[in-house]
Amino acid sequence: MSRIDWCSSAGGPLRGEIVVPGDKSVSHRALMFGALAEGVTRIRGFLEGEDTRATAAILGRLGVRFETPAPGERVVHGVGLHGLRGSSEPLDCGNAGTGMRLLAGLLAGQAFDSTLIGDESLSRRPMRRVTDPLGLMGAVIDTNDGKPPLRIHGGKTLHGVTYEPPVASAQIKSALLLAGLYAEGFTEVVEPHPTRDYTESMLRAFGWPIDYAPGRARLEGGHTLRAVDVDVPADFSSAAFFIVAACIVPGSELRLKAVGLNPRRTGLLAALELMGADIAVENMRSSGGEDIGDLVVRYAPLHGVALPLDIVPDMIDEFPALFVAAATADGMTTIRGAAELRVKESDRIASMAHGLKACGVKIDELPDGAIIQGGPIGGGTIDSHGDHRIAMSFAVAGLLASTPIVIGDCANVATSFPGFVALANGAGFRLEAA
Ligand code: S3P
Repeated sequence: MSRIDWCSSAGGPLRGEIVVPGDKSVSHRALMFGALAEGVTRIRGFLEGEDTRATAAILGRLGVRFETPAPGERVVHGVGLHGLRGSSEPLDCGNAGTGMRLLAGLLAGQAFDSTLIGDESLSRRPMRRVTDPLGLMGAVIDTNDGKPPLRIHGGKTLHGVTYEPPVASAQIKSALLLAGLYAEGFTEVVEPHPTRDYTESMLRAFGWPIDYAPGRARLEGGHTLRAVDVDVPADFSSAAFFIVAACIVPGSELRLKAVGLNPRRTGLLAALELMGADIAVENMRSSGGEDIGDLVVRYAPLHGVALPLDIVPDMIDEFPALFVAAATADGMTTIRGAAELRVKESDRIASMAHGLKACGVKIDELPDGAIIQGGPIGGGTIDSHGDHRIAMSFAVAGLLASTPIVIGDCANVATSFPGFVALANGAGFRLEAA
């Protein structure tokens, strides 16, 4: 991949209406369940990102046929629960933790062996959180000291377990439920805090019997998935950069259309409202069992807060953007209980702390969060550490910086948000290649 650096200069206000790309979590799952279903699944609003395309390419190697009638659409010709065929080549998940962890569960129950590999960042991320509980179900998966590659031995008989993950993680829950489709008996996951429930809701939509409530999911192996069309909402986590941008740049009024508002994703709205933000939800409706709505975000002066611990899991991907909001707010913001940020695409506490310090912000790193003193932001040169959400967060910071912020290593923005630069500049950013 060729290196891309950005320069973000003072800009705004943010005005107009935008639609951000489709949800990454939903797109990954729609591909996987469509592949394992009987019949043809049509996906609309599919995220054309590198992460989700990597998952489609892997399923293609395993014998699933896809059509792309138009960008953002996929037709998946399901092969049924036992219709995948093995690949002797390693299966490359790229940068995608969701792809790798969910596929580990899906592949653990197959008759054939598989090897999952990833890029440099994914190769550093912890996988025991899924391989250990899958092992309890009878799966055999070799790791490189807990990290990828994952060598998954096929032909194992899986049996259901009740598992209580030590961390709140939809990826762990989903890996187990996917393996549970192939297991004898019941597989149950009891979470320390409820996480996004797309796997559960999509399983139900595809006709698989499943009991679930916030924080708990239980299913039995041996049923059938039946194809059903999937409408993917706009990704709240991509919307987050524009939400924060419109909150912090004076004079902004921005409408984000048809954003997925699953309550396990929208903790950022609660956090920003505590800080004094002016965000209205309009046209709230339900599509495919998911809440979607338009967000109208107007500038309002923000003040620092001590972030309540219980909203942390509901905004786990939005912390880089929140760090920027906190850095521009009046007063101090304290973030605790977010140690999971250290094992995302980069160590997001360290990446944000180094970058904000380089822009003159006073920030103290904590093992599980940070203390951020809000105030003016200066320019500087920062490293995104190849992390899409760090790159986009500093693009937002540049809107208010006294001199431009140069952001290194932004190519991975294509993993989750193709077209970010054009959409951002159309809404009021001044973002260009450095
Ligand atoms: C995801 C779950 C979250 C999130 C990731 C997507 C999913 O990860 O950070 O971007 O689609 O299940 P964890 O389950 O590790 O918290």
